[in-house]
Amino acid sequence: MSEFHIVEARPRSDWAYDRLHALEVAVTEELLGEDQSVSPDWNRAAYADERTARKGLLLALPGPAPADAEPGRFGLPEAPLEPVEPLGSVEFVLPRLDNLHLLDDTGLQVSAGARRRGIGTALWREVVRIAAAEGRDTIIAWSHHLAGAASLPERVIPPTGAGHLPVDRATRFAQSLGLSLAQVERESRLTLPVDPALLAELRESAEAKARPAYEVVSWLGPTPEEHLDRVAELNRALSADAPTGDLDFKEEAWDAERVRHSDERAHLTGHSVTTMAIHAATGAAAGLTLIHVHHAHPHRPEQWNTVVAEGHRGHRLGQLIKSVNLQQLAASDPQASYVETWNAGENNHMLAINTRMGYRLHSVHGAWQLRLPAQTASAPFSSP
Ligand SMILES: CC(C)(COP(=O)(O)OP(=O)(O)OC[C@H]1O[C@@H](n2cnc3c(N)ncnc32)[C@H](O)[C@@H]1OP(=O)(O)O)[C@@H](O)C(=O)NCCC(=O)NCCS
Repeated sequence: MSEFHIVEARPRSDWAYDRLHALEVAVTEELLGEDQSVSPDWNRAAYADERTARKGLLLALPGPAPADAEPGRFGLPEAPLEPVEPLGSVEFVLPRLDNLHLLDDTGLQVSAGARRRGIGTALWREVVRIAAAEGRDTIIAWSHHLAGAASLPERVIPPTGAGHLPVDRATRFAQSLGLSLAQVERESRLTLPVDPALLAELRESAEAKARPAYEVVSWLGPTPEEHLDRVAELNRALSADAPTGDLDFKEEAWDAERVRHSDERAHLTGHSVTTMAIHAATGAAAGLTLIHVHHAHPHRPEQWNTVVAEGHRGHRLGQLIKSVNLQQLAASDPQASYVETWNAGENNHMLAINTRMGYRLHSVHGAWQLRLPAQTASAPFSSP
């Protein structure tokens, strides 16, 4: 008799998003020493919205598969209507507007009591099968490690040579499945409040270079209508220009509608604080930075996008928009105790600005990639 079977969650198995969250709490506490999950409501909103990507959540459940289970859209039995404690889970997204070669953002976890029984491997094999069936030839997956663990002598180094991961169960697992480490991301933290005198000084020294050629505008909440096209252009620029190591990310297709949708979803469960630089003479979008506050844990806002468009670099716009945005955050969210940010290990310019502001390394994250042989791809499953 099988010890476990794998099912796919669907909106009618709503309980799965609560169980996924519970697994995320347990695994982030184990790996990072604290709860780094977002929230069950965030999971629900993310899975309910498939405008830019189809979403998959597979669960390993105890015992054999029930004989009468209906197959879902990825060919696996649909999760039962009644809650069951999962042994493990894997999530992924299938982009539908751009990056159509990717099965992206794979996050795989097995509960501590169920490890070394092949559950992680079985979940991964389903992901590979689904990628091939969907005509995707590249899979990207993530692993998480405390920065202190990365100082151990045995390490895995990405092709960029920037950063490294410890040899632990996650790296051994990924390597046992033939994945390659394509890039290391650093998560850094800035303790709040930042000394207002430091922020004012950083702002003024940047303004001395950036003004009057550039103006700065900030807002709280979704992007105002008049800036939607500018934000779309800067999000496209970010997707094209951010260092991606060996990851096969292609430029994203952004327009005003996509910005509106993405803001709409993010504001179901939180709010954003955004600052943009505009080239005064032409009105062109020059730079953008955004901090998102999840209402489930307002003490730890997340630094999301920061970009300065190529033709506008070298005017201290990065430092300017980041210091102004932190001033805005101090006013709108005085409860926040630290901001988290994620940067590619090789992104020296961004890391230099962050270090000047006081960000300090906290954890490292591995971006792993698997290329599928071309012949495994076949006709995709039908969309809903
Ligand atoms: C990493 C993780 C998903 C592995 O799940 P699992 O169900 O225990 O994995 P499997 O039983 O399928 O193991 C497959 C292979 O991975 C390697 N592996 C897994 N755990 C290992 C460990 N603790 N030490 C050394 N190798 C390990 C081994 O090669 C193993 O094969 P073997 O048991 O025949 O030696 C699980 O430990 C976990 O959830 N960790 C926290 C979340 C995480 O790090 N996810 C990122 C994955 S990239």
